[in-house]
Amino acid sequence: MEGRFYITTPIYYVNAEPHLGHAYTTIVADVMNRFHMLMGLETYFVTGTDEHGDKVVKAAKGAGEDVKRYVDMMSERFRNLWPKLNITNDYFIRTTYSHHIETVQHILNLVNDKGDIYFSDYQGMYCFGCERFYTEKELIDGKCPDHMTEPVLINEANYFFRMSNYQDWLIDYIKRNPDFIRPERYKNEVLSFLKDPLEDLCISRPKKRLTWGVPLPFDENYVTYVWFDALINYISALNYPEGELFKRFWSYANHLIAKDILKPHAIYWPCMLKAAGIEPYRHLNVHGYWKVDEGKMSKSLGNVVKPLELVDIYGVDAFRYFLMREMVFGLDSDFSEEALVGRINADLANDFGNLVSRSFTMAKKFQDGRVLEPEVIEEEDREIRKEVLTTLDDYCRFMEALGFHKALIRIWELIGRLNKYIVTQEPWVLAKKDRARLKAVLYYLIQSIKAISFMLWPFMPETCERIQIRLNLQKRGRDIKIDDIREWKDKELVVSGPIQLFPRVDIKRLKKHKMEEKKKTISVTQKHEIGIEEFQKLDLRVGVIKHAEKIKGSKKLIALKVDVGEERTIVAGIGNAYSPETLLGKSVVVVTNLKPVKLMGVESQGMLLASEDRSGLKLIVPDGDITPGSQVR
Ligand code: MSP
Repeated sequence: MEGRFYITTPIYYVNAEPHLGHAYTTIVADVMNRFHMLMGLETYFVTGTDEHGDKVVKAAKGAGEDVKRYVDMMSERFRNLWPKLNITNDYFIRTTYSHHIETVQHILNLVNDKGDIYFSDYQGMYCFGCERFYTEKELIDGKCPDHMTEPVLINEANYFFRMSNYQDWLIDYIKRNPDFIRPERYKNEVLSFLKDPLEDLCISRPKKRLTWGVPLPFDENYVTYVWFDALINYISALNYPEGELFKRFWSYANHLIAKDILKPHAIYWPCMLKAAGIEPYRHLNVHGYWKVDEGKMSKSLGNVVKPLELVDIYGVDAFRYFLMREMVFGLDSDFSEEALVGRINADLANDFGNLVSRSFTMAKKFQDGRVLEPEVIEEEDREIRKEVLTTLDDYCRFMEALGFHKALIRIWELIGRLNKYIVTQEPWVLAKKDRARLKAVLYYLIQSIKAISFMLWPFMPETCERIQIRLNLQKRGRDIKIDDIREWKDKELVVSGPIQLFPRVDIKRLKKHKMEEKKKTISVTQKHEIGIEEFQKLDLRVGVIKHAEKIKGSKKLIALKVDVGEERTIVAGIGNAYSPETLLGKSVVVVTNLKPVKLMGVESQGMLLASEDRSGLKLIVPDGDITPGSQVR
């Protein structure tokens, strides 16, 4: 593989919180970026936020915020999420940055000077959700296909980009460069769209309707259409035209998007580049959509999947692995937490985790962690080496062709093969009767695990680096290059201790919680209201735990002495979540006027308030010091 690698994600609108879809695209971009680092290429990775236009203004108003303050706040949510998903972006672009705005104006001037922009009256059907005009043909039953709302007839004078001038050039370019748009289905979709005459693109919005945008450099009464502004981020991020980064990276540009924004990227953007005298990007890589319960994720349905919640519960690498393994790049996939847990238990805890933990434990136990190059090897060892090398070749081929799930399937075949190798070679038997064979088997196992940690690093960087640290490797993470895998010539590897990579997840517990959560939401909405007098019947007080001990014969119950102005004995079912020592001195909220009950022979004179979700049970505690016995209202 030669040259450099420049990868971009769409810049996300700041009118909504980041969700699974945004996380997926950015993780794929990260996997591609890390893979190219592994291949020894110089890489550059840009993501960011799209902050102009109607939608954003409406969202800011809806939130009762000043627009600039709103976009600053929302942009931060995206920027702060990426480190938590271990994203290696080199730059984060915002369309409100002045250098981006200047680049947009520069391009507008270039295209205008060339005669490719004209002013004209226009009447058309406008969808405010999409912020664009629709032709009759594009509407479904007279409605916007995305928002299912009727567009509004708008009559206004605007500036237009002569996109139609570039139609023939674009068709020819796509045909001559078959992997310009990939996978092929999307290339075909674009070519089929281009069979009809291309309309010119309306690239302005009058300021009387919208002021939140990049002012047109040649007419102060207008701002730039949000897509004409947004697409230019891909070059303003490289400091076009003079920037060193632009010179180094533009010819290697790979855009990554989902199918929803195919048209602006496959049609508007190449035409804009051509008109501005800039060479086209190298590849447009298009993936499908994550759905939930076979439908769209949407706020109103309450099924928006939040990446951080999953990462907090299952860990970042499990989440990254699942998304990359489950979706066939280019096609849609259905997201479910059950499927995520299924993969964690089967692929990660069982296959991969067991292989590594068994091998490391045996290396430690039988050879005190010293894994030495063997003097004698057998055919089955040679086969293992061959298998690692063919896996590597297949892996590279799949990764270059966007077949991420295939690359993972291939690595898991190797993992399966290694687990079998352990079963057939029986190192625990060799430890007793054939130390020379044991040495060879452990060496081939640990070398293979090392190779796997290199290949899987783009997908699960934290886990792979943990393995590399345990193996005391000098080169780790992004210092490792693909040829390091081929070499296989360590004289000695040292395993410094056992390792547990992925704990199994209890699917029954997950299901129980889901059911309970569902019940809770239903009961919250259906519960009948009570008056304040009824609520006041409860005597809630702040208490401080003075003493705690487990009740014999019970896993869950803890007997507490709590100071609520006076000392009370309270039996609480919190033993699965708290050990007695961690409770001492804690302030809690106590219901003090419940009828006493006996639990496992101990009388409980009150109840602590707690809450539970999938992440576990937590006590409700006051936000700061409050004298014990104070009332809770
Ligand atoms: N701001 C424009 C992009 C301008 S790029 C010059 C935009 N923003 S967006 O916030 O709506 O992001 C759309 C992108 O988010 C998709 O192309 C995709 O990368 C990602 N996804 C959003 N929802 C998704 C799914 N349900 N599934 C997969 N990815 C999706 O469009």
